[in-house]
Amino acid sequence: MQVSSISTKICRMHNFEYRHGELYCEQVPVSRIAKEVGTPCYVYSYTTLVRHYRAYDGAFKSIPHVIAFAMKANSNIAILRLMAKEGSGVDIVSGGELFRALKAGVLPSKIVFAGVGKSAEEIREALKADVLMFNVESSAELQALNEVAASVGTKARVALRINPDIDPKTHPYISTGLKKSKFGIAADRALEEFALASSLANIDVVGVHKHIGSQLTEVTPFVEAVKKVVKLVGALKSQGINIRYVNIGGGLGITYSDETPPLPQDLADAVSPLLKDLNITLIMEPGRVIVGNAGILVTKVLYRKDGEAKRFIIVDAAMNDLIRPSLYGAYHEIRPLSEAVLQRPKHHVDVVGPVCESGDFLAKDRSLPEVNPGDMLAVMSAGAYGFVMASNYNSRPRVPEVLIKDGEIHVIKARETYEDLIKGETIPAFLN
Ligand code: LLP
Repeated sequence: MQVSSISTKICRMHNFEYRHGELYCEQVPVSRIAKEVGTPCYVYSYTTLVRHYRAYDGAFKSIPHVIAFAMKANSNIAILRLMAKEGSGVDIVSGGELFRALKAGVLPSKIVFAGVGKSAEEIREALKADVLMFNVESSAELQALNEVAASVGTKARVALRINPDIDPKTHPYISTGLKKSKFGIAADRALEEFALASSLANIDVVGVHKHIGSQLTEVTPFVEAVKKVVKLVGALKSQGINIRYVNIGGGLGITYSDETPPLPQDLADAVSPLLKDLNITLIMEPGRVIVGNAGILVTKVLYRKDGEAKRFIIVDAAMNDLIRPSLYGAYHEIRPLSEAVLQRPKHHVDVVGPVCESGDFLAKDRSLPEVNPGDMLAVMSAGAYGFVMASNYNSRPRVPEVLIKDGEIHVIKARETYEDLIKGETIPAFLN
């Protein structure tokens, strides 16, 4: 499929499909990738990534905007370079993310820095890099930012993150815009905080930011939140504070199972009319919707174990490789690489990894066709919050990441070695 001719209507599509009896990523059988790089491994489709980015970007073409890809969803520098080449900026939340973004060639003028706990050192680094702006989450942070900016003799561009107290109707761990959440400044204290911000000598107030949660499957919470922001922008104007940027965050959901989240175009159609007369530049921070369905985790069945109460499929990937099922009870579809397996009788199984925890599962009580040791499986929709949340728990080396483009397999992160596991560790002399 030609990437350039892609409409904004097909953002839900991805390039992992059965052909000739096998699961393919673009023009490459996933089994070939597994053979070349081993399992487990993450596989990303270039075409899907680009299509998703362009769908989002195109949907908002009627408003001047910057897309700041939420790189916490996937921060591999090859993915970031790909995004940057498409014109994307990034939303960062740490000095480490700033480092990656700059390494990947993301323009500092398209970097926004969010997060409730930026350290003075991280602030200094971001000021030095001259990022577009800081999304500030509290008055204490505002003061700290003012001081650091003064110490380096500059002014920090700032958007205040407002907590609009709106229920995004998503998993509580990824819901961020309610009063009880640690994020943002309460909407009813916003004017006060903006007044404080504009009184500080080394702060340049340029924007309003909001992000209410992730994996949103309805458009209404976005609309409600944007309405509150628009009202605030008006109130600020009457106080002489001129807002140049409105950042509506990320959060658009994807289809993991049978969800039908709004498409980027639906979101754009709903919020653009509210924003178009504000004379602002819109910033957006999509993460999951760009990369989620552009990646899979490939794993091999090691053993089958018929326990007293249920059948376990033990695979070589585990919670340390993909923690979403364990952490959020998240559903990820599991597909065999060989289409013929789909014809086998179905069983209720748990798909579990080798990690020594009962919480180590990739699927629970799932109806799956019979699989045998050696069969390969794809854990779908794993491109967002997959590899980035991986750990070395149980001293398991982190798995490789590959990017498929034009029929070629590009390893964009090598599998870690045992030596990598002990990098930086030393045995003090007194133990000799
Ligand atoms: N902007 C801000 C300020 C955020 O905190 C986030 C996500 C995003 C943008 C991007 O949201 P997205 O478009 O990806 O929904 N680990 C969880 C997701 C945590 C999201 C944290 N913040 C998961 O695996 O579902």
